Amino acid sequence: MRKKIVAGNWKMNLTLPEGRTLVDGILSGLPTLNESRQVVIAPPYTHLTQTGEQLDEYEHIYLGAQNCASETSGAYTGEVSAAMLQSAGVQYVIIGHSERREYFNEDDALLARKVEQALATDMQVIFCCGESLEIRDANAQNEYVEKQLKSALFHLGDLLMKRIVIAYEPIWAIGTGRTASTAQAQDMHEHIRRVVANQYTPLLADEMTILYGGSCKPSNAAELFACPDVDGGLIGGASLKAEDFLGIVNAMMGL
Ligand code: 13P
Repeated sequence: MRKKIVAGNWKMNLTLPEGRTLVDGILSGLPTLNESRQVVIAPPYTHLTQTGEQLDEYEHIYLGAQNCASETSGAYTGEVSAAMLQSAGVQYVIIGHSERREYFNEDDALLARKVEQALATDMQVIFCCGESLEIRDANAQNEYVEKQLKSALFHLGDLLMKRIVIAYEPIWAIGTGRTASTAQAQDMHEHIRRVVANQYTPLLADEMTILYGGSCKPSNAAELFACPDVDGGLIGGASLKAEDFLGIVNAMMGL
């Protein structure tokens, strides 16, 4: 069964009290979720315990982290390991976000190690891919995204690959207010599913959740999510306001 997911990536925003208020607001308006309609909230590391406690009694809404270390443990000042995240109640880890690739020089080889670390626990990975405007203008986005997936994921066996959610986030659409058109999103998601089917099996690809991210908001979510290969969204800016986030969650529920 292919799951629909709306995931909020808070990035480096909100203090602890602000985070608490936001989660309270989301929970007070949350529709009834189920196995095939799920929500993930990925606050900063400092907020994980608090947010986890708030989500504790709710079903099908999960705690996510925005990153994890590429090493298991040891002298890596400032890093947080996958096992630490799991022990804090984290169920999803975002890996490969374009901001981490760009500002923290995370390359494919490092991301492959992070993915392995996360999957060595029982967490699931939301693996981000997506091209820059330059690559899109050169119409080279399909090859580019395919290479991102191959380099960081395709060494995984079927069982581990089943625990991957892919998020397609075109860099030119992140935080810019410029959203991919439904045709652009659908084309890329279909391409990603085809590439996964070729490497693994058509069934595995069919059951994989592929999220869209990039200026997704209540006003465009329903249209994007109606695309046959778009299974929800990874939401940045609009995940910071309960009303906006709930609008997007409701767009998923209406599918
Ligand atoms: P925005 O929704 O702010 O464009 O961010 C998308 C994103 O990067 C989610 O990870």
